[in-house]
Formats: sequence, structure tokens, C-alpha cells
Amino acid sequence: MRVLFVCLGNICRSPAAEGVFRHLAPDVTSDSAGTGHWHVGEPPYGAMQQAAAARGYDLSDLRARQFTSVDFTRFDLIIAMDAANQRNIEVLRPADITTPVHLFTDYAPNQGMTVPDPYYTRDFDGALDLIEAASQGLKSSL
Ligand code: 4NP
Repeated sequence: MRVLFVCLGNICRSPAAEGVFRHLAPDVTSDSAGTGHWHVGEPPYGAMQQAAAARGYDLSDLRARQFTSVDFTRFDLIIAMDAANQRNIEVLRPADITTPVHLFTDYAPNQGMTVPDPYYTRDFDGALDLIEAASQGLKSSL
């Protein structure tokens, strides 16, 4: 099983999701990417790394990359952090490819909401709470 977590910058939400999910489901191949190009090559945002490290997740080795249409064939499941990500991913879907793209919070107890972007809200712990809850749900669904 190969799962790709996608957000906008690939420096806050999706690397945190990758780190949490790797911890929870080590047998699953997890990766992350951003729909935007601005932070390609950068490590996760400092405050996100710190909030994750406080919960035992080491994100320091991760580096941002941009989502591409090839990812549809490299992964079995693509997880978007919010509805805008989901739309930007779907725009790149190749013909004949049926790889599902689901909202991460579809797996969380309070479905319907999305993972608020802590780059803007500054609520890194709130984002991690949702990411941990959704990760549990995702793991149970596999
Ligand atoms: P992320 O947060 O999508 O959770 O990685 C963002 C980080 C940077 C930017 C946007 C979102 N940015 O526009 O630079």
C-alpha cells in the first residue's frame, strides 16, 4: 500500500501527516507533496517540526516536493488536506487513471471539516490533533 499526503506548500500539513502516519503504520509506504512549487527542497516549517517533535514525530529528514501527474500512478491512495488541494490534484489526473483522491478529514470523527492551514492559523497543535485523528481512521480503513 502506498499513500501520498498532499497540501499546498508541503511544509506544514502534509509532512506532518506523513510523519504521523509513518509512525502509526510503518508497513505502509507514505510520502507527501505540495500542489505549489514555492517551498520545493525545503524541510518542514520550523514551528511544525517543533510541534511534531513534542509528540514524538521527527520530520527533520523530509524535503518539500511538488505534486505531479505521475504521482497518480506511483500511489494507491492520494489524501488531500483540504478541498482546494483536492481540486488542484484532480486537474492533473491523467486519462484512464482511477487512483482515489480523498479528503484526509473524511477519516476523522468530525468529518466535513478540513485541516486548517497552520501556516496561516498558527495553530500547529490543533492541526496535529486533526492529523492524528484522521491517521487513526485512515489506518483502520486500510
Ligand atoms: P502547507 O502550508 O500547505 O500546510 O504546507 C503552507 C505553507 C506555505 C504556503 C502555503 C501553505 N505558502 O504559500 O508559502
